[in-house]
Formats: sequence, structure tokens, C-alpha cells
Amino acid sequence: MISFSVVIAAIAAVVVFWFFQTSKTRQYKRIPGPTGIPILGNILQLGKQMHVQFNKWSNQYGDIYEVKLGTQRTVIISNPKWIKEIFATDPIFSGRMRIESFEMYPNESMSLGIVSSEGEFWETHRHFLLKQLRTFGFGKSCMEQLVLEEVQEVIERFKKTEGKPINDLKTVFILAVINSLWTILTSKRFNHDDPKLHTLVANLNKVLFDLAERGGMLIFMPWVGHLMPEWSGYNKIRKVIEDNKSFFEEAVNEHKENFQEDNIKDFIDVFLNETNKTTDSSSPFYGERAEHQLVATLGDMFGAGTDTTSTTLSWGILYITKFAGVQDKLQQEIKTVTENSRNVSLNDRPSMPYTTALIDEILRYSSITPGGVQHRATEDKEFKGYLIEKDTWIFPNLHHLHHNPAIWGDPETFRPERFLTEDGKFKKNENLIPFQIGRRQCVGESLARNTIFLFLANIFRSFTISFDPSAPEPSLDPVGLILTPQPFSVVMKERS
Ligand code: HEM
Repeated sequence: MISFSVVIAAIAAVVVFWFFQTSKTRQYKRIPGPTGIPILGNILQLGKQMHVQFNKWSNQYGDIYEVKLGTQRTVIISNPKWIKEIFATDPIFSGRMRIESFEMYPNESMSLGIVSSEGEFWETHRHFLLKQLRTFGFGKSCMEQLVLEEVQEVIERFKKTEGKPINDLKTVFILAVINSLWTILTSKRFNHDDPKLHTLVANLNKVLFDLAERGGMLIFMPWVGHLMPEWSGYNKIRKVIEDNKSFFEEAVNEHKENFQEDNIKDFIDVFLNETNKTTDSSSPFYGERAEHQLVATLGDMFGAGTDTTSTTLSWGILYITKFAGVQDKLQQEIKTVTENSRNVSLNDRPSMPYTTALIDEILRYSSITPGGVQHRATEDKEFKGYLIEKDTWIFPNLHHLHHNPAIWGDPETFRPERFLTEDGKFKKNENLIPFQIGRRQCVGESLARNTIFLFLANIFRSFTISFDPSAPEPSLDPVGLILTPQPFSVVMKERS
């Protein structure tokens, strides 16, 4: 029988714990937020479209509020100045959560790749990646050439439809976007019908789909995956991650076999060159872990770069076709600049303020990563009088920021002109941050912006697009974790 003194000791321990816990937070303002339930927290209140509920809570609680995703403490920030401040400077707010179930190398002592790694290891590899991407093409004419080859292949594919409806735009774009990224990273280009390219696309789609369908629960309650691996979808997700890993490992092994120090062709070569030179075992480029890091980085580039860019392109086609007058204005500007006698190139962009404004409006209106990508507080830290405790996840409410009437006036109207001055020059708005901001800001922003510009401008130079009259009116309501248009069908009429 439990003795009376044990009960008293247990009560005393709870009181002492409670006292220390509250004295830690007593000096700070209380972060408001909805009440949740044990274990599940606020998950059941979220519904299928998390961002809709997050926006409601932002309207109710204001600049900052707290929710529990399962047992995970999470703060959501909606104040634009605070979003910039919290992500810009302080390394304490630049961590990431570790979710081994989704990692290619869950047995490593830390998360690898760029998206999920942290600290000095992340900083070194992020810096290296950005430098090499600049060398191998981001923002350069060779990259532009690669993207234009993909644009041309897509245009040829559309021409072959001869005015018949197209209903798989997203797949067409994803093939093209993956291929240009593959060429930059591995110096190999596939034909769009190549089975190897289709396998790569199918693998990536499977990972993204399974993460969207089943990943939520495994992110917020990872223990469910270990307790019920079949039912929770954990086994299925692990299988596609392993398949994907094999694909990238094969590319790395091929490069290792053909490696020539005096003939560095692409990102994989330059990375291998760095690891070959490294003898210091404490270096982030040393040994087997560095090779795993290379594979995980390739996985991250494809995971983070392909669905996002092709989804934005799909929204672009949908909005430009749907909203009155937009297609005419775009085509008029293309004609003024190119006389419709040549491809639109990146050099034309400064003379195309309407197209530039249109792309910013597409990014704002779609806000495909509505809560951005969450950061982790690596230590307890005060922010604006609130205590952000260690291991809290921090979400910027980008959708709310991009649809806030106090900032945009008429956010639910699709109006590229909001990014133009009265005399028609492009006007940047600092409150548009689809690639997030600060220390972890998206590394693919320039590639994504260039790709979207070259695709949309050259497609609308070649075609006038309308919706398939025999299909239902396309919906503007998104689906998925990355906000994606529901399938829609268009007809492309070649322009003379
Ligand atoms: C429209 C297209 C895209 C959108 C909207 C987008 C959005 C984002 C966002 C919101 C983040 C989170 C930043 C943070 O945590 O602070 C991010 C990170 C990242 N993005 Fe993108 N992205 C796009 C395209 C790309 C492309 C084309 C690539 C690669 C080629 C890419 C690679 C990455 C990587 C590697 C990270 C992780 C950065 C880090 O943690 O240091 N993204 N992106």
C-alpha cells in the first residue's frame, strides 16, 4: 500500500514543479490562444484547411497566439514587423524540428540536408550550396538557357494538343521544373518522355502526396508511427523515402565512378571534390556523413523546389485565364517588348513591369505555403515581452499577412496593379514574403522567380488560353498542405 508520506512527497514535488514553471513565465506577458484537449491539443479544431482556422485565430487573438499541435507547443505570428524581426537576426529562432521518420538517414546523430539541419553544420552547407548554385547557374545565362529548353519542350507538347483540352498542367510543369533542376545539379537532361524522368517525378510525387495525406499526424504525434506503423502510414512513407534515396544515391555513385578532378561539371562533382580534399574529421565535409549530406541535399532541393514552383505555375495559368483583362495586358506587354518575334528572356524583365507585378500578385494571392516553414526555438528566449520556450515551433502566418485588408485594402481582389506606380513602374511591397525572410530564407527564390517569369511569358506569347467549355468552372479553393489548385482543364489556341 502507498504510504501517506509518499503521497505527501508526490504532492510536494508537483507543487514545486508548478512553482518553478510559473515563476519562469510569471515575468512575461501570457501568449493568448484557444484551449485544446490533452494529447491532441488543438488538432481537432484545425479542419482540412489548416490555414483557414489559423487565419480565424489570427483575427481573434492578434499579433501572436499559441496552439498545441498534439503535444507540440506552437506560436503563430501575424504581425508583419514581428515576422521580419523574429526570423531575421536571432539564431535562437532559426532552429528546425527533428522528425526522424521523414529523414533519409534517421540513424545519423543529427538531421542532414538543408531544410532540417541546424547550427554550424547547416550554416556551412547552406553557404556552400548558395555559392555553388551561383557558380553553376542560378541567376546566370546558362541557367536561363536550361529553363528555356524546358519551356520550349512544354510549348511543343501544348502545340501537339491542337486545341484539345489539357487537364494535367501540373504534371507537365513538374516534369519541366524537375528536369531543369536535375540538369543544374547533375549536368544531365532528360527528354520529357524518358522513363527515368517519370520515375523521378513519380517518386517525388509519392513522397509529397503521402506526407500531405498522412504526414500531419506523424509530424505532430511521431509516436503513433512507431506504435502502429501500418495503420498510420509510417511504413508506406518510409518505403517511398528509401526509394527516393536510392535514386539520388545512384546519381552520386555514378559521379564518383566518373569523377575527374580537372573536369568539375556540376554540383555533385564540386561537393565530391570538397569531401575528397577533407581530412579533418570534425569538418562538415568529412567522411560518410558528408556523402549522406550530399544525398539529403539533393532530396531537399527536389522536395522544396519542384512542387512549389509547378504549383505556382498552375495557379498562374488559372488566374491569368480567369480574371478579366489580365491575359490581354500580359500579351500586350509581351508584344511591345518582343514584337512577338522571339522568346521572352530575363533581359526583358526590367521592361516588363506588368508581368513582374503579375507574378508578385500570383505569389500573394495563392500563398501556397500559408504558414511558411516553421522554425524551432533552440533556447528559452524573450520576444516582445513574451517567453518563447525552448523547442517551441514558430510559424509566420504568411497567408494572413498576404490577405490582410489593413495592408492590401482589397486583398480578395486579384489586382496586379497594386504592385505598380501610377505611371506604370514596378513597385515592390515589403509585406510580400512568399519565400519567408531572414536567416533561412528560401535558397531557390531567384530560380523560382526566373522559372515562373520565363514559363508564363513564353507560354502566353505562344498561346491564348481559355477554360474548357465542356468542363465545370474551375474553383479557386485550394487543396493540400501546399495550397494547390483543384484539377482544371484548359484549351490552348496557338497565336500567329
Ligand atoms: C514558388 C516557389 C517556392 C516557394 C513559394 C518557396 C518557399 C519557401 C519557404 C517559405 C521556405 C522556408 C524559409 C524559412 O524557413 O525561413 C523555403 C525554404 C527552402 N526552399 Fe523554397 N520555395 C520555392 C522554391 C524553391 C526552389 C526552386 C528551391 C530549390 C531549387 C527551393 C529550396 C528551398 C530550400 C533548400 C529551403 C530551406 C532553406 C533553409 O532551411 O535554410 N525552394 N522555401
